[in-house]
Amino acid sequence: MDATLIRTINRLQDAFSTVGVHNPVDLPQIVVIGSQSSGKSSVLENIVGRDFLPRGSGIVTRRPLVLQLINRAAAASTSDDDAKKDNENDKKEPEEWGEFLHQPGVKYTDFNLIREEIVRDTEAKTGKNAGISPLPINLRIYSPHVLTLTLVDLPGLTKLPVGDQPKDIEKQIRDMIVKYITKPNSIILAVTAANVDLANSDGLRLARDVDPEGARTIGVLTKVDLMDAGTDVVDILAGRVIPLRLGYVPVVNRGQRDIDTKKSINKSLEGERAFFENHAAYKSKAQYCGTPYLARKLNMILMHHIRNTLPEIKAKIQAALAKYVAELATLGDGMAEGAGQANIVLNIITEFCTEFRTIIDGNSTDLSSF
Ligand code: GDP
Ligand code: NA
Ligand code: MG
Repeated sequence: MDATLIRTINRLQDAFSTVGVHNPVDLPQIVVIGSQSSGKSSVLENIVGRDFLPRGSGIVTRRPLVLQLINRAAAASTSDDDAKKDNENDKKEPEEWGEFLHQPGVKYTDFNLIREEIVRDTEAKTGKNAGISPLPINLRIYSPHVLTLTLVDLPGLTKLPVGDQPKDIEKQIRDMIVKYITKPNSIILAVTAANVDLANSDGLRLARDVDPEGARTIGVLTKVDLMDAGTDVVDILAGRVIPLRLGYVPVVNRGQRDIDTKKSINKSLEGERAFFENHAAYKSKAQYCGTPYLARKLNMILMHHIRNTLPEIKAKIQAALAKYVAELATLGDGMAEGAGQANIVLNIITEFCTEFRTIIDGNSTDLSSF
């Protein structure tokens, strides 16, 4: 049910963008920020459960990546005969695939090709040097193995320009990040490596500038496995260092060596679970540690956030509806091109409002149980 609500809202956003109206309603997004190489891409990949992001030690993420995860039910199991027929006809939908907004209709089932396309399109818009661009790459991943979430990956905060990067690269990246996290309905995933002092966390510092109460900031502590023996993040988790209302989640991603030896994400997740379950400092709270808990927490926070913004979203939709109805009326009988477009939008909004009301009415008990 929760996923249905979010999917409906994603659909609205989609529908609007096909007729050239972008972000009619300011929907919540989860924005991933932190220092370069803090582990942002690794966290995102673990949440998706697939390898698909370009990674490296330099500034690899050079444009915002708006990543929409869409949970779709696995294909219903059919009888052997049906399955055979499906195969013969070659009509079977892939189980998971990615699709870029700039290549509508092109389904990527090979996630290596997704990575290549991200690199290609990044270079096409920013050149091969270490330049950055605020122009986002929009990617959707459809899969039965993800929770329905929208995530934004951003270039990492960096101090010193490298190569022929502009002198003000730090400011450029900061401005780009601030633009995304200032939106009051963005949820900030502030990634910090556990083996650096939390007080020096660039991500947390920026998050605090725009969210001083810590009301929409989640702390993610990476590289917990790389901490010195005898040290742990228990004080941080308990809110005794820099408290965040939404708390911190410690994770263990693949290290560089795991990536070089192509350790699978599943193996990595198994290793992560074993790490927390067997570690003296974490084993009593292991269910609150690791990537699966982070993913569940994100979905819950997103639902809570949507519930809180429902009245505003509803008002905006009603205003948009009134505007399009008025526009349609002025077009009169000689409805030409423009009328067709307005009509599409009107239909979409009307359909959405009905669906929206049904979902909210049907699920008010579910939603209030947070
Ligand atoms: P980003 O620049 O913030 O996107 O960081 P990446 O995800 O690309 O990670 C940077 C480097 O840190 C890579 O070599 C990763 O393998 C490594 N890394 C990330 N998270 C962890 C972790 O939890 N444990 C270990 N050991 N290495 C990690
Ligand atoms: Na990196
Ligand atoms: Mg990255």
